[in-house]
Amino acid sequence: MRTRPLKVALLGCGVVGSEVARIMTTHADDLAARIGAPVELAGIAVRRPDRVREGVPAELVTTDATALVKRGDIDVVIEVIGGIEPARALITAAFEHGASVVSANKALVAADGAALHAAAEANGADLYYEAAVAGAIPLVRPLRESLAGDKVNRVLGIVNGTTNFILDKMDSTGAGYSEALDEATALGYAEADPTADVEGFDAAAKAAILAGIAFHTRVTIDDVHREGLTEVTAADIASAQRMGCTVKLLAICERAADGASVTARVHPAMIPLTHPLASVREAYNAVFVEADAAGQLMFYGPGAGGSPTASAVLGDLVAVCRNKLSGTTGPGESAYTRLPVSPMGAVITRYHISLDVADKPGVLAQVATIFAEHGVSIDTVRQQGKDGEASLVIVTHRAADAALSSTVGALRELDTVRGVASIMRVEGE
Ligand code: HSE
Repeated sequence: MRTRPLKVALLGCGVVGSEVARIMTTHADDLAARIGAPVELAGIAVRRPDRVREGVPAELVTTDATALVKRGDIDVVIEVIGGIEPARALITAAFEHGASVVSANKALVAADGAALHAAAEANGADLYYEAAVAGAIPLVRPLRESLAGDKVNRVLGIVNGTTNFILDKMDSTGAGYSEALDEATALGYAEADPTADVEGFDAAAKAAILAGIAFHTRVTIDDVHREGLTEVTAADIASAQRMGCTVKLLAICERAADGASVTARVHPAMIPLTHPLASVREAYNAVFVEADAAGQLMFYGPGAGGSPTASAVLGDLVAVCRNKLSGTTGPGESAYTRLPVSPMGAVITRYHISLDVADKPGVLAQVATIFAEHGVSIDTVRQQGKDGEASLVIVTHRAADAALSSTVGALRELDTVRGVASIMRVEGE
């Protein structure tokens, strides 16, 4: 084993960074044996040195992250700051100064992954980011390496623990969205500002990363159709339960049937209770992958938190250190298919639509005609009437999202349709 250590700079020492530092110290001998050389924490860049956690060596702490990555003797930079800047500038500087990078930064990779990969390649360095998607769950490496000989057609996942916790509470207790969010906040699952989670930005970044790797093309967060879960009501959940379904916030990446394009989207959807993703409870994540030869695979586990995310970071650290020692690099960006990303309108799926209508002769026929005129075939209709008004629940066969949108637009124009109470896609059948 080489005795000269590989030097590691850690950018960020919050919940994840402090766990990375702790495990690097407590598991130093095992890490050295697995890598073939010791790894030494050479510096830890933080914004607020007074907040550095117990067990983190104080003498390594600096507030000058730029100087740390430009030192010239750093072999690997671990970036767990998050956000676009200064993370992007620091990672770029790290590559230019000969370091490989391990990052947990989904927002940055989803926004600018191609440029980062190009910078890594130009400098003969590695860029690894297993921790950016679903915490401890191995997904990036299985898609990049284990399934590199297969053809992935679909990735369907629960990649945000906060929203899964909220929907699970709504499903199991009948609570409304606000009540379930309050509980998630009280238990520390939801942040004080939960926007990134509940509006689907976090899941959309992960969907972009998964789609790009799965389909060997470039997908950025701007290509991902995004709807959060703030509009999901207790009535939607009850309606799903009546259909033998539950509601999940899903990230769905698909290859089109003709193979000429892909789509990536995040939105709440009903899935049958028989689908493996329906049993993913609380704040757990799970991703279902469908590939030509492998068939259906499911990856399940904790998608957030200090230790689980640190596990993924350290796995990457071992890999890039091994690459450094053998003078090589791991797989870089694979975007050779150049498949375009189609808009949401091209997505084909089923829909569950709740309408409030007048309860009088001919209304059902009028509604059915609108569906027929837009080429959307109805599978089931359920009606419940009371005092001259009725609630109609329609489930369609598979149709293009654009056709469903025009159908709903036309339904809203009917005098007899008092309102469109909810529209939810039905997936996983
Ligand atoms: N906030 C995310 C979640 C974890 O709730 O799953 C980090 O991506």
